[in-house]
Amino acid sequence: MKFDKVELANVAIRTTQYPTDNKPEFLMLGRSNVGKSSFINTLVNRKSLARTSAKPGKTQTLNFYNIDDMCYIVDVPGYGYAAVSNAKQEKFGLMIEEYIMNRPNLKHVFLLIDYRHKPTENDLIMYDFLKYYNLPVTVVCTKYDKIKKSGRDKQNKLIENTIDIAYGDEIVYFSKVTKVGRDKIIEVINSKITE
Ligand code: GTP
Ligand code: MG
Repeated sequence: MKFDKVELANVAIRTTQYPTDNKPEFLMLGRSNVGKSSFINTLVNRKSLARTSAKPGKTQTLNFYNIDDMCYIVDVPGYGYAAVSNAKQEKFGLMIEEYIMNRPNLKHVFLLIDYRHKPTENDLIMYDFLKYYNLPVTVVCTKYDKIKKSGRDKQNKLIENTIDIAYGDEIVYFSKVTKVGRDKIIEVINSKITE
């Protein structure tokens, strides 16, 4: 994966708007403001492909990014942010659920959680939901740079003890600042594409 070509190919709110060329897809999922757009930008080496913001709730559609004509990265609205109305959150939830349930070419999910905090109830529900659909998941702990070295052992344990990671899944620690974890994510994507 070279990320020579990275283009927003489809913006979808319903299934008929998804790409139709049947390439492997990688879903990026997480609480609003967890750093999804930053994660995608870091991964593909672009500054502002996916819009980042201090104000949560920016992403409101399913955004399919064409990566080197090899696969799609799918950015979706964040869940569980109080400032976004319940009606809207429910709509977003249904849109994501519809995608997950109707997408055989969805190969892998990157579930983003905030490294600084204990995984939330919503994070755990989302992980269980994905496992119910037998999807392979990498749990990506974002903002790893925000906890200093001396606190990391304790934080790693808290996260590992809170999420009951299924066999075959793994946890990756990630930072957009230091880029730690990026190589590992690319390795996962490459291995799924050539599967
Ligand atoms: P929504 O689309 O609004 O739900 O948010 P998002 O999940 O796409 O988050 P976004 O990438 O916009 O990041 C939210 C805020 O966290 C921004 O201010 C980012 O700069 C910051 N941020 C994201 N990742 C990191 C990281 O690894 N380290 C640090 N220090 N800040 C980060
Ligand atoms: Mg975003």
